[in-house]
Order: sequence, then structure tokens, then C-alpha cells
Amino acid sequence: MNAYPIFIGKDSLEKLREWLKGHTYSKIMVLMDSHTENHCYNKFSLFLPWHHTFTISPGESHKNLRTCEEIWDALTRHQFDRKSLVINLGGGVLGDMGGFAAATYKRGLDFIQVPTTLLSQVDASVGGKLGIDFQGFKNHIGLFQEPQAVVIWPDFLKTLPFLELRSGFAEVIKHHLIADASGWQALQAQKDLLTMDWETLIRHSVQIKSQIVESDFKESGARKALNFGHTIGHAIETQRLGTEGHLLHGEAIAIGMVAEAFVSFQQGLITESALENIRDYLFLHFSLVTIRQDEMPRILQNLYQDKKNVGGEVRCTLIKGPGNFVVDYVLGEEEVKAGLAFYGRRK
Ligand SMILES: NC(=O)c1ccc[n+]([C@@H]2O[C@H](COP(=O)([O-])OP(=O)(O)OC[C@H]3O[C@@H](n4cnc5c(N)ncnc54)[C@H](O)[C@@H]3O)[C@@H](O)[C@H]2O)c1
Ligand SMILES: [Zn+2]
Repeated sequence: MNAYPIFIGKDSLEKLREWLKGHTYSKIMVLMDSHTENHCYNKFSLFLPWHHTFTISPGESHKNLRTCEEIWDALTRHQFDRKSLVINLGGGVLGDMGGFAAATYKRGLDFIQVPTTLLSQVDASVGGKLGIDFQGFKNHIGLFQEPQAVVIWPDFLKTLPFLELRSGFAEVIKHHLIADASGWQALQAQKDLLTMDWETLIRHSVQIKSQIVESDFKESGARKALNFGHTIGHAIETQRLGTEGHLLHGEAIAIGMVAEAFVSFQQGLITESALENIRDYLFLHFSLVTIRQDEMPRILQNLYQDKKNVGGEVRCTLIKGPGNFVVDYVLGEEEVKAGLAFYGRRK
């Protein structure tokens, strides 16, 4: 079990209120971005004692040192001491950065993650990875530090834009493919994102991610399972960054999962029909983005710059089953091309 509580569900805000009653903090700061201030704060604040607030600009482009300085500045102005608490109300950008700012201010304040996007509820808020982007490199500066608690209220998703919801859903699919064969069978019957039982799916994802993280906090072995779809997916995400065809994280990972599932099939780890099921389900939810031939050189270049590479080799995680995984598979250039060609062929 985690050393800290993860409250999930309709009563999670109530549980946070109770948890706070049992802890003494000199001050509390709720950090949010302007979207979560508009959509989430009013409801959330009803469950809190008196507190300060600080709002930052939304989006990945603000996940940097300058915004951290703003946060540290606000904490300093309000005379936050070591016995204070920071509550991060927002998506993965806010959680990663707010956690980083809290964990480094005066050598570390307690912080609580209250994720408000599907991606942050099923992925970013669990696992203790905190950080910011630096000089164009994603999550370049950061640390591992667990929060005091994670509070997941699925109703926050009601105001989340559909594309953001779908992006987070790619991670839900990933969790099934790497760790739950029967769950994967059941998931395939669920075809409409707007009617999904998010509470159940979030619990499922959090359980899988927590188990994997617990067995390997600093990412030397099993945690690499979570990289399925991400080696090729990240290279595509980076290639499209700042262009008109830019992709949300989950959209890129969905392509990566199709391509890496193809490599898994080629390696005899999954059957052809399992491969087709994976492709069909991903295509059902994610629109068909075409990867152009002229993008391939940059995509391959990005792959070879991945910070997870060892000794110049591109390593990736393949799925086995599905429901299981193989880490550290050395991925050749031809396999990347073949995987993306399979993605491009569709049906
Ligand atoms: N720490 C980890 O282990 C980990 C894992 C995966 C991703 N990440 C990080 O997470 C970040 C991406 O997170 P994200 O996808 O949540 O993006 P995000 O935080 O940028 O949120 C997406 C958008 O939705 C808005 N929003 C958030 N909640 C809302 C709500 N309830 N209603 C309406 N709008 C809302 C935000 O303001 C933002 O505009 C990346 O920086 C990535 O590096 C971290
Ligand atoms: Zn991801």
C-alpha cells in the first residue's frame, strides 16, 4: 500500500476535509491555473478551512522556472513556513510544477495533489515525479517526492474539454494492455467516452500504476512498463510540437501504442488478432492522424535523443499477452518504420 492516502470517488472531497482536520498546518495555499480556478475552485473550496490562493497561467508553456519563481514569491510574501501546506488543484502541468515548487521551498513543504484532468487523475498524480521543463527539454529539472495525499474527484472531468478527456484515456488503455488481460477484454465493449464509468476506470488505473511504482519507485525496472507506447509516441509528440498538427500527449501515445503493438506482434509476444483488436480500439477513439513520410527523419532523430536510451540504443517496452509486458527491448530503426507503416495502413 502507499504510505499516503489516495481518496477516489464522490466522497473524496469530504475525506480531504476530514484528513485536514486531523493535521495541523500553519498556512494553506491552493495553487491553480486560470481554468481550474474558473471550473473547479468554487466547489473545491467549500471543503477547505481558511486558505490563500495563487493562480498561474495554464498550459505546458508555463511549466517553467519563471512560473516557479512566481509560486515561491507568493509563498514568501504570505510568509509560508515549513509547517505549511500546498494544495495543487489542476492537471499534470500544475501538479508537477506545484509539487516541485513545494518540495523545494524551504527544503520542502507538504503538498497534496488534487488532479482535475483525466491524465493527471490516472497517471501524473501518482508516482511522485515532480518537475518543470527547461530550455525546451520536458521535465528536465525535478525530483521524486511523494505527496501527503492524492484526492481524485471524478466530477471534475465534467468541465474538461473532450480532447483532453480522450488524451487521458490513452493512458487508461495503456494500463489495461500492460497489466490486465480480462479488463482489456471488458474495456473493448466500452465505446463512448461520454458514458464511461470514470470512477471505476480511475480506480483501476491508479491501482495498476501504484502497484508498479511501489515495486520500482526510481524507475530501474518494472516502472518502465508504463512507457509502453511512449518511445515512438514521444518522438511523434516532439516532432509535432509547436506545429499546426501538434498532438496532445495521449493522441501521440495512441499512435505509439499501435506501432509498438506491431513490434510486439513481430516478436511473437501477441497474436495477430490481439494486434488487430488493439489497433481497432485505438482507431475507434482516436482520429486518424497521418504520419507523413517527410516526418520520418525527424521522428527517428527524436527517438535517438530520448533520455531513456542507454548507450545509444533505443529501448522500449513491448506488451505480452496483452496483460503483461517486456521492458528494455532494443528497438531498431526498421522496426519503427514497420510499426508506423502498420499504423498508416489502417484497415
Ligand atoms: N508526474 C508524472 O508522472 C506525469 C505523468 C504524465 C504526465 N505528466 C505531465 O502532465 C502534464 C500534462 O497534464 P495534463 O494533460 O493534465 O495537462 P494540463 O495540466 O495542461 O491540463 C490540460 C488543460 O485542461 C485544463 N483543465 C484542467 N482541469 C480542468 C477541468 N476540470 N475543467 C476544465 N479545464 C481543465 C488546464 O487548465 C489545461 O488547459 C505534462 O506536463 C506531463 O509532463 C506527468
Ligand atoms: Zn503518458
